[in-house]
Order: sequence, then C-alpha cells, then structure tokens
Amino acid sequence: MKTEVKEWMLVFLIFIFFAGSANAQTAMINVQARKTTSLNGKWTVIIDPIGVGEGKQVWQEKKSQKKTDFVEYSFEGGPELQVPGDFNSQLCELTYFEGTVWYKKQFNYSVKADKRLFLHFGAVNYLADVYLNGEKLGSHEGGFTPFQFEITGKVKDGSNTIVVKVDNKRLGNGLPGTGYDWFNYGGITRDVDLIETNETFVEDYFIQLKKGSLNTVSGWVKLNGNKLKQDIVVKIPEQNLEYRTKTDKEGWAKLEFNSAFKLWSPEKPKLYKVMVESETDTVADEIGFRSVEVQGNKVLLNNKEIFLKAVNIHEENPSKAARAYTAEDAGMLLNAAKELGCNLVRLVHYPHNENMVKQAERMGIMVWDELPVYQHIQFSDSLVPQKLETMLNEMVRRDKNRCGVAIWCLSNETYPGTPNRNEALIELTQKCRALDSTRLIVHVINTHGYNNNTFKVWDPLYNYSELIAINEYVGWYKPWQGKPSETKWDVVCPDKPVFISEFGGEAKYGSNEGPGDEAAYWTEEYQQQIYVNQIEMFGSTPNLCGVCPWLLFDYRSLKRMNQVYQNGYNRKGLLSEHGEKKRAWYIVHEYYKRK
Ligand code: GCU
Repeated sequence: MKTEVKEWMLVFLIFIFFAGSANAQTAMINVQARKTTSLNGKWTVIIDPIGVGEGKQVWQEKKSQKKTDFVEYSFEGGPELQVPGDFNSQLCELTYFEGTVWYKKQFNYSVKADKRLFLHFGAVNYLADVYLNGEKLGSHEGGFTPFQFEITGKVKDGSNTIVVKVDNKRLGNGLPGTGYDWFNYGGITRDVDLIETNETFVEDYFIQLKKGSLNTVSGWVKLNGNKLKQDIVVKIPEQNLEYRTKTDKEGWAKLEFNSAFKLWSPEKPKLYKVMVESETDTVADEIGFRSVEVQGNKVLLNNKEIFLKAVNIHEENPSKAARAYTAEDAGMLLNAAKELGCNLVRLVHYPHNENMVKQAERMGIMVWDELPVYQHIQFSDSLVPQKLETMLNEMVRRDKNRCGVAIWCLSNETYPGTPNRNEALIELTQKCRALDSTRLIVHVINTHGYNNNTFKVWDPLYNYSELIAINEYVGWYKPWQGKPSETKWDVVCPDKPVFISEFGGEAKYGSNEGPGDEAAYWTEEYQQQIYVNQIEMFGSTPNLCGVCPWLLFDYRSLKRMNQVYQNGYNRKGLLSEHGEKKRAWYIVHEYYKRK
C-alpha cells in the first residue's frame, strides 16, 4: 500500500517539478469548467523583425515626460491582431515572418480578498515572455501546450496591461528543431483567459479506468492552496455514484472505485458527467471509460480487437491557410476524417488544441497525441532533456482525462545514429509510463530499409514502442521493387502489432494532364495507384493493426517549391486544401468500409 501511494504522488510531483521552462507554471486542467474571463479579441502589436524591443524595454510602455523627450516605440497607433490566431495569416507583411512580435492587451479587473487569479495561455508559438503592468511574470518555451502565471497580489484594481513578447524563430535546440515540413505559424495561437479560483481549489485530477480493467477507476485529486486537508467527493450522478475520500496534508487524495460503466467506443462514445468536489471548490468534467491495450500482436479496445482506421491531420485550416484553433475548425477537420471512415486521428506532429481532442472524443474518434519531437532534434544539447520532459508533462497533464486519447506518441522519424537519441527517448518513454500507465506509448520510425521487395524494420526504439509504427512511402519516395502482395517483412520485434503510420504520395487535385504513370506530373491517377498498391500490400503485412494515410488535407509547407504543382503546399492530401476529393480518397474510403 505504501509504495502504491508513493507512485501516484510521484506522478503529480513530476507534473509540478517540470512546470514550464523558466518560470511559467504548469497550467491547471479543464479551464472550460472554471470561472474565466476571456482576454481573446484584438491585441495591439509591435512587429520587431530585428529584435530591438528587448533593449528598449518595450514592456515598460514609457511615455515622454518633458518637451525634449521622445520614446522610440509605441503600441498606440500600431496594428491589431486577433487572439487567438497565428500572426502570419493576419497581416501581409507577416506572411513568412519568423521573429518577434510584441502583443499588448489592456483589461480591467478587481479581485476579491479571498480569491486568486491566474493568467492562462492555451499556447503561444514558440517562446513567450509575459509582463504584467511592466513587471516580468516569466517565460515559456514550446508552441503547443498551455501554461499560466498566478497574478494574485500583482493585478491592480481597475486597469491592467499585459505585454507578451512572442518569438517564433526556429531554434537549433528547440522542439521541433529548425527543419520541419509544416508551416511555422507564430503568435498567441490559442485562448487567453483569466481564471479566478477560491483560495484553495481543485488543481488537478486523474480519473480513468485502471489498466486492464473495465470497471475500476483508479486515480487521484490534488488541491492547491492553504487548506489542503479536505473532504473530497467524486460524483457520477448517472451511476448514482458518490465516492468519498480525504486529502492529506499535502493536498492529495487517492481514488479507487468500481462502477458498471457503459464503455466509450467509436460506435457509442459515451461520456459521463463527473464532479470533483472539495469543501472549497467543484470542477465538472465529461469523462468516458474504456480500456486500450496491446495483447500479443493485437490492439484491443474494451478487450476486443480493433483495426485502427486512421488518418494524419495537421492543425491547419487548409482553406484559410491559417492555424486551426476554433471548435468550428475542429468540426471541419474531424467531420472529414469521419466521412473517410476513420476511428482514429493521428494529430501530427505536436499537441493540437483542446477543441480537437474533446470534439474527437465526443464524435467517437480515438486520438493519437504527439510531441514535437521530429526528425533532427539535438538530443545531445544540454537543454534538450529538460525541454522534452516539460513538453511531455504539459501534454499528458492536459489530456490525461480524455478517454478518446488512446496513444501518446513521443517521437517521429528520429535517427538512431544521432548522439544521445536512444538514451533520451528511452528515458522519456519511462517518464511517460510513470505519468500514465493506461495508454499505448509509441515511437514512429522511418529508418527501415526497403530492398529486394523486403522491408527491414529495425530500430532500438521499437523495443520501447508498443506498436511497430512505420512511415514508408513506397510508390512515392521509393519505387516498388516487386508485386506489392509479395512484399516481405523482416521486423525487429516480430510479435508486436504493426501500424503503418505514414504512406502516400502527392497529387494536385484536378491534375490529369501528364502521363498517369509518371510521378513528375502530380496526377491524381499516380497517387491513386500508390494507394491501390499499398492496400494490396497491407493484405499480406504481418500483424497489421492499422494504417494511417499521409494525410487528410493538402497543407502549407515552405519546403514544397514546385511552382506548377505544389505552390508551397505538401500535396499528399486525400483532399485538396479546399476539401475536394482526390481519386485516392475513394480508395481509402472503400478500404475502410471493408475493414
Ligand atoms: C515524413 C514526415 C511528414 C512529412 C512526410 C512527407 O514522413 O513525418 O511530416 O511531411 O514525410 O514527406 O510528406
């Protein structure tokens, strides 16, 4: 019993200890259920392409004091940007901008004596320095996860000003690093909220089925404040369930209870209203219960084998050519996945906004959450291990109560030869398992060879991945070397389930002017044939547990410079950026209907 208690306490302590880099705090969870005041809307900005704002101390908003004074910057009279939203798609001069933009927002507030106030950011890409009334609150690194600052005692009665320095310059030792195949949308890309709480509040909780069980919930609750010893009740009214416990002097309570739940599944995505009540706070959530595990070479959902009919999605509204963030954006992307016949969305290559995760769960689509650990990460840089851990903590902390999230993906296409890569990612896997033992943990690899019509699938990381997740682009980056149905597989862990996490090729919607059997014309026929061949190969792929086309919509990438066919878009979508169905779409749709 004693060791058990230590384990679950450790999970929370890890969350706290690795609170965002520098001094942002790890965000409280389930913001939507709290008392919030939105700071979304127009923010005034100063564009700072050469980085002089730091020296001028822009956050001080100096005003000239006497006739001979002048101040060489001002928010006043500057352009305004919509928050949330990326800056690149809002002003022409920012289209390809990678650098600093200073944001300013004025707000009025009055905090009552017994309340606390937090300033919460859903995400800022990539570095954020945050100032309140001229005083620095702290910094955060990482473009896709939430963070917060407590501003109780700092916020003034009446008018206050927040200034945020946002910098989306690529960093060699950043996550991701400098080279990636998607658009680097900068800015305050997700919601900004003030959150008011009681002095002691429910900061965090973990309520999910215990690994391997269909009716036992195992988890914990954590309070934050001065009155840490309290009575706790977890209520699930629909199940007539009221589970009572007490927090200890550190504010911890362990939970464990049984109930005959209707399980969440793609066919019936059942969610229950769950209330976590302490003496000083109540937080309501919608939580589903399901089990997901690997047994032998199969993936089981609620103890039944499931074939993962997936698709890759970037967090982009393709027709607007902008970062996706609203519930409407999420609906558009997820409806397209549903229409294709998917039961899983792989949200690449970074944690997407909460609208995506929550809406997918409501629609019965499982979610694959992924860290921005992509290709050329500098694993031997002394700062990288800490950044990896911070991002892992922030992602898991935010989404751990979402039963729709079935998979934590910790890396994509990193290379075994990169110094310290194996050590760093093995350690990260262990840390992820310590935070949450209920979901599958996966690494995606593309380092296999394909010769003599044989895939050699090897990588030390596969020993730490519950799925053999493979990115292969046979038919596009490599020509077929034999009949697809006669492809052979030489897999390092031959007993694990195999998931084809990326495959496909490019086509421009409506392009059929060149020969359909030549890649250089970006024809729909060529792409269609790749999918026909791939599906033929899947028929004889050992241990296949699912496939995931690259990808749903064409998306922006500055790497894609063919001016006739690409125009700055990666054209591997099954749908064009305007949602037009390419021929390959029908092939996948048909396949998913059959599976
Ligand atoms: C890689 C990578 C994707 C990329 C794709 C492509 O496998 O994971 O992010 O865009 O290849 O070449 O289109």
